[in-house]
Amino acid sequence: MANRKIIPARVISGPLVLPGDKSISHRYALLAALAQGTSRLEHFSAAADCQSTLDCLKRLGTKIEQVDSAVRITGNGLHGLHPFVRKLDAGNSGTTMRMLIGILAGQTFDSTITGDASLRRRPMRRVLEPLTQMGAEIHPRHEGVAPLKIHGRKLAGIDYTLPVPSAQVKSAILMAGLFAEGVTEVTETIRTRDHTELALEEFGVRVERFERTLRVSGGATLRPRNLTVPGDLSSGVFFLAAALILPESSIVLHDVGLNPTRTAVLDLLAGWGVPISLLSVREAAGELIGDVAVRHAPVEGGEIAGNEIAQLIDELPMLAALGPFTEKGIEIRDAKELRVKESDRIAVVADNLRRMGAVVEERPDGLRVGGRSAGRLHGAEIETHGDHRIAMAFAVAALGAEGTTTIRHSECADVSFPGFFDVLDKAVER
Ligand code: S3P
Repeated sequence: MANRKIIPARVISGPLVLPGDKSISHRYALLAALAQGTSRLEHFSAAADCQSTLDCLKRLGTKIEQVDSAVRITGNGLHGLHPFVRKLDAGNSGTTMRMLIGILAGQTFDSTITGDASLRRRPMRRVLEPLTQMGAEIHPRHEGVAPLKIHGRKLAGIDYTLPVPSAQVKSAILMAGLFAEGVTEVTETIRTRDHTELALEEFGVRVERFERTLRVSGGATLRPRNLTVPGDLSSGVFFLAAALILPESSIVLHDVGLNPTRTAVLDLLAGWGVPISLLSVREAAGELIGDVAVRHAPVEGGEIAGNEIAQLIDELPMLAALGPFTEKGIEIRDAKELRVKESDRIAVVADNLRRMGAVVEERPDGLRVGGRSAGRLHGAEIETHGDHRIAMAFAVAALGAEGTTTIRHSECADVSFPGFFDVLDKAVER
């Protein structure tokens, strides 16, 4: 167990290169494993979560070579995976588990998939329900949670409207649709990240899009691709927040993913008075990439609610921890999904903010965090509950607090950002 001490800082500056986007890395790896031939993925995420995806694919017989941040994956086509007799381990990664369930449900063999203690508490019924409608046979050990026994079956396309806005569920259905007979149609009422749709097209699968409905047909042939993963904006947000906490700061994040389903956080901050510039924006493999420059400015704060929650879901812990540094404070509503992430992020954020002296009101679907007038934060002992985004959000808040903060189990940051604390340390001046 690692405890990391965070000493307050004066300023953060400089250009930063972020790890490869976690969501895109998972999708490229999975689709490369289903393609016929060798794909080369550059700037692949070093996150432990993406390593979980690669490890599961290796166990399913996929040839994978890793040299630094490049990954070469040789797939044997849609039906080229092999059974793995023991349990596949998705670690802490909900994306790995949910998307793999979609793929494994349509195989001609059986599989078992499990994860760490956090993942074994997270709801899987949201994936099991549509997949069962497609003809899948999946047995959870306990009520709707992993470990899951998946009996590979012939699947048939369905027409499904997502009851919970979840890119992971949408993706699991689309992945299963590759193995299903006929057309699989998914409709989302609230828009979520669309990397799966874009990646499928990149690997040669035809995806029909009509308003909020997507359609794929079973039996496509996926072609191998050479792709570069953009930097992870969700990781970059920790540095943006640090620049907003520390006066006179100014940072540039280079080559980050600017897919419009991921940039809601930039729109939100811009609306709260933060000067943000996007530079060198270009398109690659259907994804937008560019540089994001941010200068320190007072942050107004305000309310985050409704449909925008789904597109800010991973940024909410950092936004909540930014609350005490804003003029009006921050109120988050309609976000009960946060309770079923890597930790109960509403309860854990509220508890840790209070430890640092913030004024917090916890609600069933969100929280309200008092702004600057509620007083300055002080150093405290932070309980991460093994949740990477909690560790990083509070390390950043600690930079602007009075006194030293200890982040307990800080190694959990490796789940999405190995080396985070060293990058942060190098970027700040004390
Ligand atoms: C992800 C989707 C989101 C997000 C997660 C990654 C993805 O989960 O919280 O970190 O890569 O599809 P949900 O789609 O379940 O909200």
